[in-house]
Amino acid sequence: MSVLFDVRNLVFRYPKSKEDILKGISFTVETGQIFGLLGPSGAGKSTTQKILIKILNNYQGEIFYRGKDLRTYDKSFYEDIGVGFEMPVHFNKLTARENMKYFASFYQRHLDCVALMEKLNLADAIDMEVGQFSKGMKVRLNFVRAMLNNPRVLFLDEPTAGIDPANARIIKDLILDFKKRGGTVFITTHLMSDVEQLCDEVIFMTDGMVGKKAAPRDLKIQYGNRLVTVEYYDDAGLRRQQFDLKDLGHNRNFLDIISRYDIETIHSGETSLEEIFIIVTGANNE
Ligand SMILES: Nc1ncnc2c1ncn2[C@@H]1O[C@H](COP(=O)(O)OP(=O)(O)OP(=O)(O)O)[C@@H](O)[C@H]1O
Ligand SMILES: [Mg+2]
Repeated sequence: MSVLFDVRNLVFRYPKSKEDILKGISFTVETGQIFGLLGPSGAGKSTTQKILIKILNNYQGEIFYRGKDLRTYDKSFYEDIGVGFEMPVHFNKLTARENMKYFASFYQRHLDCVALMEKLNLADAIDMEVGQFSKGMKVRLNFVRAMLNNPRVLFLDEPTAGIDPANARIIKDLILDFKKRGGTVFITTHLMSDVEQLCDEVIFMTDGMVGKKAAPRDLKIQYGNRLVTVEYYDDAGLRRQQFDLKDLGHNRNFLDIISRYDIETIHSGETSLEEIFIIVTGANNE
């Protein structure tokens, strides 16, 4: 895999902020992966996304996009990227179709927005004023807006926040389709179920600093207590016993139990991503 974004020692503060919001972060995003930026509220995730999409420019450090300094790219950079902002922004007096037509007019490449709206269960709302949309409808339309220039890289800031599980599933499937077609995704989310279903690698951000990049599965192994819990029946009734996953195949007691008794359940003890989030970020106030 090649490196798509290479972020080195990124430091940023807003004109009005008293201290640095990003405190020298470094990470890479590989081409063709779904990369998750996770962290508690106020950590600096949306700020990082805004810098990567060239909305905020006054930063220190270096960002390379496809091997070239991001600062050297002109407007053609916007042809490459699709952005789903944290707060959906549309013209309320215009219909969904008119909104999409307007935003599409900025780009050379286009995607069939009507087909995408239909996939997102917005078929009946295409000619409705966006001001009459529910919150979840606006979030879905925001996703269409991110895709409308058929981008190479998709930036999604909490793409499933505030929508129902069925529509969230549709969005996640569309994100996975996008990846299958070779696209790269930079996603920010608080929903660990999204991370589990989508992300190849994640990085945790706390107070403007980041940890090491890791695959969700590896994090679970690293933080998991790696125990196996067996529930089984013996003459006295239901019993429950825990074993270390390590060398389980040679654990006589375990082997004895599974060969002699009726097993009710066996579970491996894995720490959930929610627990890992709290451990890593110390975010008890989330
Ligand atoms: N325009 C601004 N001017 C000054 N400070 C800002 C501005 N926008 C954001 N901040 C501050 O920067 C910090 C990081 O904000 P950011 O929006 O990047 O957080 P986040 O990680 O995306 O949080 P959330 O999960 O709540 O979306 C916060 O302390 C916030 O108050
Ligand atoms: Mg944010």
